[in-house]
Amino acid sequence: MRSAPPSDFVTALPKCELHVHLEGTLEASMAEMLAERHRLTGPGAKGAGVGGARPEAFDGLADFLARYYAAMAGLLTEEDFYELTAAYLATARRQGVVYAEMFFDPQAHLARGVPFPSVVRGIRRAQEEARSAGGPASQLIMCFLRDEPAEDAHAVLEQSLAFKDWILGVGLDSDERGNPPAKFAEVFERARAAGYRLTMHCDPRQEASLDHLWQCLDLVGVERIDHGVECLADGRLVEELERRRLGLTVCPLSNQRLYGDLMGGAVREMLERNLLVTVNSDDPAYFGGYVADNYRALQEDAGLTRAELVRLARNGFEAAWLPPARRAAYLQAVDAHAAGAPSRAYRT
Ligand code: HPA
Ligand code: ZN
Repeated sequence: MRSAPPSDFVTALPKCELHVHLEGTLEASMAEMLAERHRLTGPGAKGAGVGGARPEAFDGLADFLARYYAAMAGLLTEEDFYELTAAYLATARRQGVVYAEMFFDPQAHLARGVPFPSVVRGIRRAQEEARSAGGPASQLIMCFLRDEPAEDAHAVLEQSLAFKDWILGVGLDSDERGNPPAKFAEVFERARAAGYRLTMHCDPRQEASLDHLWQCLDLVGVERIDHGVECLADGRLVEELERRRLGLTVCPLSNQRLYGDLMGGAVREMLERNLLVTVNSDDPAYFGGYVADNYRALQEDAGLTRAELVRLARNGFEAAWLPPARRAAYLQAVDAHAAGAPSRAYRT
């Protein structure tokens, strides 16, 4: 029989996080505090349901996204973005995250009149403070909103270039329905030429999931895929993902809250089929848990062994966009923890 590893093994296991939206770490309490700070009335106001009333479950991606964008109303100044990021990094540290690649959605803030530099300067200050206070180390991935025109993505890419040293890659999020990777092939090509790393969301349970996954590989040439669980329905796709050793950033609690299925069986199958599957939190303030919570929920759902949990943590560092020496140091720390002799082989 498979017995559950103790939960402190999961917390202390050195982990990375490759799929977390900073705006999705906005806890209800901080949303309320920001609404007060900026004297917001309307949808962002205290008690109006934006911060406080978060449902146990959502009716799919579009239902979640409507609440996610509404709740951002209070994120207005550099200081707000600093506090959001500092809070996430502090929580991630308590959950045993030593390295994070974090998404942000600049278009959602530009639309509310927040200048691009305010967003990235606030985030950057929190990243630097966390790193010098012992971690986690972190990088930024700028997402384009796929339900907005491709021209808008081109415009925000242009704005980002002044901050290129602070942004590691680009991603694609928001509502996938009717918004295929092909719509953004050109802007991703420009981003690649500018030196950005490339990833895209392929959310679960989408109308054209397999088509979108193939477009990511053949048309865009992404270096990672966010979610991607639907690949299991296509043997040739699985072979191709394995051949390319392409990381897949699966988010168990997100799957549970959006689709009523944690998809632990799919993660088990991905491990069995030798895919580079990783465990992540997506929008932890909405889905009921941060990274260690996702590992624990997955462990319970799929009955994973300690060795399988260690393999998932290793996969995270394998799929991360890290320089080789840093990757090796993190992997060494994972192996030392697995062997019962924790050591901090890496430097923040
Ligand atoms: N999918 C698409 N868009 C998103 C997500 C997601 O999981 N989270 C925040 N924006
Ligand atoms: Zn996501």
